[in-house]
Amino acid sequence: VPFLRILGIETSCDETAAAVVERDAEGHSNVLSDVVLSQLDEHSAYGGVVPEIAARAHVEALDELIAEALKRANVSLDEVDAIAATSGPGLIGGLLVGLMTGKAIARAAGKPLYAVNHLEGHALTARLTDGLAFPYLMLLVSGGHTQLILVRGVGQYERWGTTIDDALGEAFDKTAKLLGLPYPGGPAVERMARDGNADRFDFPRPLVGEARLDFSFSGLKTAVRQAAQDIAPLSDQDVADICASFQKAISRTLKDRIGRGLQRFKTEFPAPGEEPALVVAGGVAANLELRATLQALCDKNGFRFVAPPLHLCTDNAVMIAWAGLERMATGAAPDTLDVQPRSRW
Ligand code: KG4
Ligand code: ZN
Repeated sequence: VPFLRILGIETSCDETAAAVVERDAEGHSNVLSDVVLSQLDEHSAYGGVVPEIAARAHVEALDELIAEALKRANVSLDEVDAIAATSGPGLIGGLLVGLMTGKAIARAAGKPLYAVNHLEGHALTARLTDGLAFPYLMLLVSGGHTQLILVRGVGQYERWGTTIDDALGEAFDKTAKLLGLPYPGGPAVERMARDGNADRFDFPRPLVGEARLDFSFSGLKTAVRQAAQDIAPLSDQDVADICASFQKAISRTLKDRIGRGLQRFKTEFPAPGEEPALVVAGGVAANLELRATLQALCDKNGFRFVAPPLHLCTDNAVMIAWAGLERMATGAAPDTLDVQPRSRW
């Protein structure tokens, strides 16, 4: 295995990020720097990410963030082996900023460029943090994605399930909004839920019991809206009870959906080399109740539950640098400079 050191760039949503990651000949990896600038303050007044604002903020911040990432890593551009930049999926304005910057640096410094799929970054993070071996299952739950993915190898992914409507983080955000809680909604709902009665409302658990591994959350959101309207004006206790009941419905849903995914994994890989594993990633992975649900489910099914540290579960450039490194290590050819960003991928 050659020694590799990669500069990563991430601009697909509302985080501007740059990082340097390396792996030595023995396979030991090191995060040399991990710089993230969240645009949360710029978007919170609008109750969500505004694409135009996001793109402009990336333009303003990215150059300095990259310089900062190199400085903190104590390396010059000459000392990195390649540039990895997110090329999709995501908001097209942000993707353009990050990918074009990556191309310009690659061209100017004479380094190869790896255009990385953002989801691949999330999918491979557990190999950096926990040295996980292939194959494993990954549940990605963020503001934009809800997917259950079989990770077979670098560049080998099978989507086993996805949401047919809202992403899970989106369901949290929309529920918070209609309850008058601040953006982003996930942490606010979780906080309120602690003091609530989870048995007060019997919210729907979409697709529970179905053989397919997809998710659906828009009906849940509608049921929350209906319940809130029925008992308005809402007291703090009402809000807490709704939040707790909402989270319980989601826990039950995940238990069913992911439980089926674990069973399918066992059927497809009856004799894996090591203990099978489920990795969770995305901002919703911060939710302690959902974590506990997944942990219990894994314990029951003989799976190892892997939750990388939160700053590597949410959007960051370490995962992009790492995905580029993994691709480079397989000997895969880099991308050419005419590679285009892909909003949907
Ligand atoms: O991965 P992420 O930081 O950004 C992207 O969506 O790419 O995820 C953000 C999402 C938001 O929808 C936010 O409400 C949700 O993660 N979230 C949570 C919690 N913390 C953040 N959802 C539930 N419980 C939480 N504690
Ligand atoms: Zn993400």
